[in-house]
Amino acid sequence: MLRKPEKALDLSHYKIPTHVAIIMDGNGRWAKRRGLPRQAGHRAGAENLRRIVRAGVEFGIQVLTIYAFSTENWGRPESEVRGLMRIFARVLDQEIDELHSQGVCLHHLGELSGINPTLQEKVRRALELTKNNNRLILNIAFNYGGRAEILQAVRQMLADGIDPNDLSEELFSSYLFTQGLPDPDLVIRTSGELRISNFLIWQAAYAEFYPTPAFWPDFGREELYDAIVAFNQRERRFGLVTEREL
Ligand code: IPE
Ligand code: IPE
Ligand code: MG
Repeated sequence: MLRKPEKALDLSHYKIPTHVAIIMDGNGRWAKRRGLPRQAGHRAGAENLRRIVRAGVEFGIQVLTIYAFSTENWGRPESEVRGLMRIFARVLDQEIDELHSQGVCLHHLGELSGINPTLQEKVRRALELTKNNNRLILNIAFNYGGRAEILQAVRQMLADGIDPNDLSEELFSSYLFTQGLPDPDLVIRTSGELRISNFLIWQAAYAEFYPTPAFWPDFGREELYDAIVAFNQRERRFGLVTEREL
C-alpha cells in the first residue's frame, strides 16, 4: 500500500526538547467511539507508536519516553491485561528490526520481574540488540509506577549503605530507572485528562505539560509537531524571575 505523502513540517527555527515523555491515553475511548472493543483501540495505539517513533527520529528528539502500562493497570479486567501483554509481545517481535535499523536504543523503565518470563526474555533481547544505537533513546515504561520507582531506589540505597549526608538529588536520580538520562522537558498527555497518573513523578518536576484532547491512536506526526511548537512558546522559569521582570 502506498503511504500518503507526508506534509513537510519545518522545525529548523524551533528548539527541540531533548526529552519528550508521552502518556499514551485514550485507546479505549477511541475504540468505543467506533463501536469497537477496547482491544482494537490498544492495537491502533500500538500502530501509532510506530508513527510517533519515526517522527521523533525525524524531528531530532534524543530521548522519547512512552507510558505503556502502569503498575495500577494490573487492576484492569484480566482479559484486557492479557490483551495488552499480547500486544506488547507482538510489538517487540514485529517492530524490533525496524527500530534497530532506525538507530533506536531501547530502554525499559519499570520492574521486569513482574511480567511473564517469555515477555521478559523478549525485552532483554531487544535491549541487548539495540544497546549501541544512538539516534534516539526510546524508554518504554511498562509495569512502571513513579512511586514504585522511588521505593525501589530507596530500598537499593539502603542496601548499598548510603550515608544520609551523601544523599543528593543527583545521587537519588542515579538510582531511578532513568539513570544517566536528562529529565523530560515536555510531557504530553493525550485524551484530555489533566493528571500525571504516577508517571515520572520525580523526573518531571519541571517538565512543561502539554495536554491534548486527541486520543492516542489519533495523535500523529503533525500533533507531535504542534506540541513542539507549543513547547517553544512556553517560558521555563525553574522558580526564578526572568530578566524582563527585574
Ligand atoms: C491507554 O489507553 C493505554 C493504557 C493505559 C494501557 P486506555 O486504555 O487508558 O484508554 P481509555 O483512557 O480507557 O480511553
Ligand atoms: C495512564 O493511563 C497509564 C498509561 C498510559 C499506561 P490510565 O488510563 O491508566 O490513567 P488514569 O486511570 O486515567 O489515571
Ligand atoms: Mg486511560
